[in-house]
Amino acid sequence: MKKIIAANWKCNPTSFIKAKSLFLSVKNIGKKLRKVKIIIFPPFLYLKTFKDLLKNSKSIKLGSQNCFWEEKGAFTGEISPKALKDIGTEYVILGHSERRKYFSETDFEINKKIKKALEFNLKPILCIGEREGENLDRIEREIKLDLKDVPKKRIKEIIFAYEPIWAIGTGKNCDPERVFSVSIFIKKQIFKYFKVKSSEIKVLYGGSVNQKNALSYIIQAKVDGLLIGGASLKKKEFLNIIKLVNNASNI
Ligand code: PGA
Repeated sequence: MKKIIAANWKCNPTSFIKAKSLFLSVKNIGKKLRKVKIIIFPPFLYLKTFKDLLKNSKSIKLGSQNCFWEEKGAFTGEISPKALKDIGTEYVILGHSERRKYFSETDFEINKKIKKALEFNLKPILCIGEREGENLDRIEREIKLDLKDVPKKRIKEIIFAYEPIWAIGTGKNCDPERVFSVSIFIKKQIFKYFKVKSSEIKVLYGGSVNQKNALSYIIQAKVDGLLIGGASLKKKEFLNIIKLVNNASNI
């Protein structure tokens, strides 16, 4: 199974020239590597041009960092999941802690977004994770509420990203042993509430991943991939991570 490397560019870069140059470097390396699936989540306004740059290349996929829970209508400033699909976007990040924190997104809203994204066959990457000092109750609650009424057969299309909030953008990455145990916990919760087997669920790790620690998550924590923020904007470092993960997938 290919390892997933998802790059969450957040609100960066602020110039199209820089964004395109970073994207083309990733596209180049993606063509040569067979054991990784690279998904780029640029700001919305670059998605269509990136899709055109990919032509028919299958090595890189595109995702959006959010979408709305309605497909169209009078919702100023919102992004339609149907329109995202129409321009060739395949994935969508939902429930990211920055959306929860800065935009007060609730589990109720995230649940509506997940269901709408699935309706248009966008594959959600659902971010879940605890705050500093919290136990895993928050993760269980997020799974239960964010996936409420999602049919069992569609749960497998959702990729879970374990992102402890204290590890995001702080340089304090989570211990791989803990990531291993939390990823098992996540799979158990999904079995408990939806009766979907662990082997059908993919869990990524995200939170201060860099070229020094990336492999420890793939090898020790045995996750299905990585969700990378800051390091995905540093061309050399990101390309290195992609190569490291690709080569480690022989192990
Ligand atoms: P980070 O961000 O790699 O900069 O910690 C990860 C994320 O927000 O998904």
